Amino acid sequence: MCGIVGYVGKLNAQNVIISGLEKLEYRGYDSAGIAVIGKDGMNSAKFKGRLSVLAKYLEEHPIEGTIGIGHTRWATHGVPSDENAHPHFNKDKTIAVIHNGIIENYLELKAMLLEKGYEFRSQTDTEVVAHLFDFYYDGDLLQTAFKVENAIRGTYAILAIHQDSPNEFVALRCEAPLVIGYGNGENFVASDIPAVLEYTREVAFLENGEIAHVTANNVTVYNTKKEIVHKKPFTVEWSLDAATKGGYDHFMLKEIHEQPQGIRDTINNRIDGKGYIKLDDIKLTKEEIQKFDKIYIVACGTAYHAGCVGKYAIEKLAKIPVVCDIASEFRYRDPFVDNKTLVILVSQSGETADTLAALREARRKGARILSITNVVGSSIARESDDVFYTWAGPEIAVASTKAYTTQLVAFYMIALTLALAKNTISERTYFMLIDQIKQAADILEEMLKDDTQEKEVAELIKDKNALFYLGRGVDMQTAKEMALKLKEISYIYAESFAAGELKHGPIALIENGTPVIAISTQEPMIEKMVSNIQEVKARGAYVIGIASEGDNLISSVCDKVIYVPKIDDLLAPLISVVPGQLIAYHTTCLKGLDVDKPRNLAKSVTVE
Ligand code: AGP
Repeated sequence: MCGIVGYVGKLNAQNVIISGLEKLEYRGYDSAGIAVIGKDGMNSAKFKGRLSVLAKYLEEHPIEGTIGIGHTRWATHGVPSDENAHPHFNKDKTIAVIHNGIIENYLELKAMLLEKGYEFRSQTDTEVVAHLFDFYYDGDLLQTAFKVENAIRGTYAILAIHQDSPNEFVALRCEAPLVIGYGNGENFVASDIPAVLEYTREVAFLENGEIAHVTANNVTVYNTKKEIVHKKPFTVEWSLDAATKGGYDHFMLKEIHEQPQGIRDTINNRIDGKGYIKLDDIKLTKEEIQKFDKIYIVACGTAYHAGCVGKYAIEKLAKIPVVCDIASEFRYRDPFVDNKTLVILVSQSGETADTLAALREARRKGARILSITNVVGSSIARESDDVFYTWAGPEIAVASTKAYTTQLVAFYMIALTLALAKNTISERTYFMLIDQIKQAADILEEMLKDDTQEKEVAELIKDKNALFYLGRGVDMQTAKEMALKLKEISYIYAESFAAGELKHGPIALIENGTPVIAISTQEPMIEKMVSNIQEVKARGAYVIGIASEGDNLISSVCDKVIYVPKIDDLLAPLISVVPGQLIAYHTTCLKGLDVDKPRNLAKSVTVE
């Protein structure tokens, strides 16, 4: 959740670092800091608050030097404050350290260091690392890093520099992500790819336990046995624009509009010359697929909602029973997972701690592990047997949109692949659905040209305290996702219900003027939805329908209807979620809130 940038080369390190941290702001943070080694030794600055506070200070007090480290902190130990901001230093400020993660044995290390006369200025676990570097330092920064790595336990991405070694820095990785950016006469290490894209496209991820020794002309990676690990950099296809707003007011709106392309990229690269799906990162054989007697889908938040739609797709098409579980619950219920279980982990970032922990529990129980993720080389991807990469491009806004729809595409393609292998659908249905998934991109492109109706709904609900979403079947899953979108960025209380569940309690919440959004795209359930809408109307609700074109029944009972083009019932969530995304977006804009960085939230939740 913190942002990390390290640089050594020929440019002004301060500029490279601040620019890189700006690209990582989406990760959520509450303070920022930098340390640079220049002709006059170590210089630094760190402040509570937005990165702009640090940048403004540096404009007035520039720090010269071509090697440095910078950090945006998401508080775990110690409140957000200047003192608790990173970097942290040893006593004589010759060593600077930045860190993302949690040092789990920091208290025992702190006690040992206090006994040896070390003094602490902050409440953080990270400061222990700075003093450990001092404690072990014998003139060789890399050897010191090995000793520090051996002493600490927990999750960490750490960068360290020493004033006496102004041409090198070290990077240590365990669980929290670190990516190396390979330049020409300069090198970078950062928490995520967007931070280095302005300078290089050649990148490689550090694995757990690896230590990188970085100079301007060389990056050497070692494992815990001090053996050199040869990294094979890959070329990032993302344009820098993909990591910036591209002319939209917010990342979220840009990413909503990128959904058609995300769907195309995710499916089109995986159809062979005969029109069949080919999942190049999935090595499952037909025999192995036949062996599965159940599937678990495990994720958090929006990824979990995508999994709930995936459950319908797999059960309907491949006739395999599916359990959809929240990652933070999965490993505490002793799930029925064994070597005949396929466990599908879904995670946009590929770094969500709860989901990674669930993966490891599934692994321990002998399951086959397939992950759906948007980040190449992420922790969850690297620990899976098979990976389905969504190619949505970097998703910067905290509120997930294009990751969700591309995760749906992933599930439809996996369900179709499983179904064909198990011969549970006809080739006619198989090709029809593939064709409709492709059409969904074109339909969305057309829909996104006009969001007038969503803006009108936003005007209607922006001052409301609560709002309810109803649906049946896959529409109920869409309702969950729409409710999360609204509540996480507009802070309006929003809840979703299975429409048939209303009369068992929730309908008591309905009073005069309560806004209700009813999603009704499922042909066989339209009449039931009409009855449910009439139930809430009778209690004074204001009902906005989201329905398929041609469904006139709905307009006879709703106060307003947003029609979406007709598509196969199973694929409807690909389309019908978008009005909900736009309603959440416009409502938040009308309320003048921070669309891309909502309060209390982070883009990647790398702590449990
Ligand atoms: C969704 O809008 C939220 N940002 C959040 O629920 C998110 O989906 C969840 O934290 C899972 O993140 P992941 O997909 O990166 O694992």
